[in-house]
Amino acid sequence: MNAPKTPPHSPKDTTLPRLLIVDDDHDMLVMLRTVISKKCRCEIEVTDSGDKAWDLVDLWRPDIILTDIKIPGLDGLSLLHHVKQKDPTVSVIVMTGYGTIEIAVRALREGAYDFFEKPFDNDHLLHTLQRSLERTELLRENRSLQQKLAGQESPAGFIGKSQKLNYVFDLINKVADTDVTLLICGESGTGKELAAQALHQLSSRRTKPMVAVNCAALPEHILESELFGYAKGSFTGATKDKKGLFLEANGSTILLDEIGDMPIALQTKLLRVLQEKEIMPLGHTKPIQIDVRVLASTNLDLETKIQQGLFREDLFYRLNVVTITMPSLKEIPEDIPLLAQHLLHTFQKEYSRPDLKFTPAALQHLVTQPWKGNVRELQNVVKRAVLLAPGDNISECDLIPPAQSDTAEKCPCPDLSSLPYNQAKEEAVTLFSRKYLTKAMEKAAGNVTVAARQSGLGRQSFQRLLKRYDLEASAFRDASESSV
Ligand SMILES: Nc1ncnc2c1ncn2[C@@H]1O[C@H](COP(=O)(O)OP(=O)(O)OP(=O)(O)O)[C@@H](O)[C@H]1O
Ligand SMILES: [Mg+2]
Repeated sequence: MNAPKTPPHSPKDTTLPRLLIVDDDHDMLVMLRTVISKKCRCEIEVTDSGDKAWDLVDLWRPDIILTDIKIPGLDGLSLLHHVKQKDPTVSVIVMTGYGTIEIAVRALREGAYDFFEKPFDNDHLLHTLQRSLERTELLRENRSLQQKLAGQESPAGFIGKSQKLNYVFDLINKVADTDVTLLICGESGTGKELAAQALHQLSSRRTKPMVAVNCAALPEHILESELFGYAKGSFTGATKDKKGLFLEANGSTILLDEIGDMPIALQTKLLRVLQEKEIMPLGHTKPIQIDVRVLASTNLDLETKIQQGLFREDLFYRLNVVTITMPSLKEIPEDIPLLAQHLLHTFQKEYSRPDLKFTPAALQHLVTQPWKGNVRELQNVVKRAVLLAPGDNISECDLIPPAQSDTAEKCPCPDLSSLPYNQAKEEAVTLFSRKYLTKAMEKAAGNVTVAARQSGLGRQSFQRLLKRYDLEASAFRDASESSV
């Protein structure tokens, strides 16, 4: 049903520069969107007030803002001021009415990239936009180079700019190339295994693969032989020597995942490995020296386990030389839009749906969810939306976690109260219209004429609505049916 309409873009296309146009003159917005989208390769979002624009700066992260000065809410100059304080790499171009040259000069002093007096020449505007796009690229490259030089790059695979994640990245960079034993704590799905991989990849042990073992998944005796190995004949059924995972990881790193569930008898053996740096496989008479970097991870509170007599205190202190605590998504709401966009790009490529994008309200909705399953849950929700969103926009209704899909029926009734009234109303109308049109087209098996008649609308009006809400008639038709 959701076959792609266009072939996938090249990877660069998924990161098209973003232009936000702000004007309370609706005709102007329509004209600018049409003219610019024909000539410039960029994503365009439009809005009619300074307050909404400021929200979009947070949620949508535009590269260029083209704004009128006289707009409701935050005026153009204040918007420019706030944007420049937040991210000086964003280019702001201001549009002024006739005879307001002093304001334009003030805007330039505040850091505006350029200004236009209305009415302006379209070619001139397009030329300025192109130049500012090139400038944004340069500034970004420059910043990324500086970050690399300062050693503050996020470890591979990690997305996030919050202070809490930056602290984690900093710690990972500092301790990666040492042999110190590490405990990685955090709720399920917060990236503990990703952190372990990063620690391994940034160490000189990276030439050999990291070995990971889930201590909660195996019964005690199997976990023991998996970890330490055994000699042939050491027990009935030991028909040949088994090399344990510690030996497998010799010269590399081992991750003891879910260490909090390791049986207490094995904890004693592990303590010996950490203290003596040697293992004694079952049936061996001499210990074997090993050189393994040990990482352990847990989503349990080990101190409570110690109090319950289920975890050895001395082992805890051995493991806990350095602790890395992965923040839950709830603690880093500012990273949610970034993570969501990153996941969207990943799944867009995987499922060949290059034109999909989040509506601003959808992004806002993601930020306010509880995310008990953290990044893993966010991954699942975005993946589901990429697979199921009927048009090119991902709205709130497409972002309901599978566990709550019974609430999907109640849509459109998401909590829009966090949005300004006009934006909330627009979003509610969009949700309603897409749902209505989808149902009508499903009932009519993709026949636009029939669907239009049943909805009491003319065929052309119905067709226009389908277009406006990104719905493709062909997506509702069986391959066998002829076109309408
Ligand atoms: N900051 C992040 N940036 C990008 N991807 C992330 C981030 N954090 C987690 N992920 C991704 O989320 C998924 C879950 O991460 P991971 O398996 O490392 O979590 P975990 O803490 O080990 O979870 P569990 O306790 O359930 O084993 C992985 O696909 C991982 O790549
Ligand atoms: Mg894990």
